[in-house]
Amino acid sequence: MSTPYYQDDLVTLYLGDYRDHLDIVDAAHPDAIVTDPPYGETSLDWDVWVEGWLADAARATSNLWCFGSFRMFMEHVAEFRAAGWKLAQDTVWEKHNGSGFHADRFKRVHEFAVQFYRGEWGALHNEPPTTPDAIKRVVRTKTRPTQMGAIDKAPFTSVDGGDRLMRSVIRLRSMHGKAINETEKPVKLAQLYVASSVPVGGTVVDLFAGSCSTGVAARQLGRRAVLFEKRESQCEKAANRLEAETEQPLDFDFGGAA
Ligand SMILES: C[S@@+](CC[C@H](N)C(=O)[O-])C[C@H]1O[C@@H](n2cnc3c(N)ncnc32)[C@H](O)[C@@H]1O
Repeated sequence: MSTPYYQDDLVTLYLGDYRDHLDIVDAAHPDAIVTDPPYGETSLDWDVWVEGWLADAARATSNLWCFGSFRMFMEHVAEFRAAGWKLAQDTVWEKHNGSGFHADRFKRVHEFAVQFYRGEWGALHNEPPTTPDAIKRVVRTKTRPTQMGAIDKAPFTSVDGGDRLMRSVIRLRSMHGKAINETEKPVKLAQLYVASSVPVGGTVVDLFAGSCSTGVAARQLGRRAVLFEKRESQCEKAANRLEAETEQPLDFDFGGAA
């Protein structure tokens, strides 16, 4: 096995194309892969869709959170299906600013993080994301609109100001001005997906680690992270970040978090 570029108690980062380290990906037995692949939408030299990565992910785990644009998911839907990935849910990251590719269309200030799974949903680790900021209120049981069909009974309907399910649109400032990766995701965003899909002490893999936001998030939550990044310059910056950034307050209530 290769020597890690960076390692601490919980986080291991490998330099290189993850496809040259498939033995490590498989040996990690990840509870989930949380990753942000090249979308293939910009002129950045690394931004090239990686053929076969969805099948590689499917060999290693049954739980995948994938960042992307609607265009990216549409273009590669056949590959998701061929690798056996079923759609679980989609969330939206609303940024305080954004960048569009077209001057004559809506200014794009969001990205998606979509969860896919294989096999039985009930077999996966799933911690429903809750927020502790509910206000005391009376909840009236309404008759469901007929078009909604059968829906699970929500385990976190707050009647007393306690926990309730988090909304699927997550508003967080982008990393603009502070980022060490061109498309860096905020650690707090990564925390949501790691916390909901990986138990404390479990393992998350990120095949396209960039700045290692997934690794920072995992470490803060007491999860292990195995990360891959093919650019040495990026690994160097990420390793410096991992060494420097040890604590960041958790804003959300993550069930089961350390
Ligand atoms: C979209 S960025 C990830 C950004 C990351 N989520 C963050 O918050 O910083 C994708 C990263 O994957 C890396 N990459 C692209 N192809 C790769 C491959 N085959 N194996 C490993 N890393 C790769 C790129 O160098 C880039 O840094």
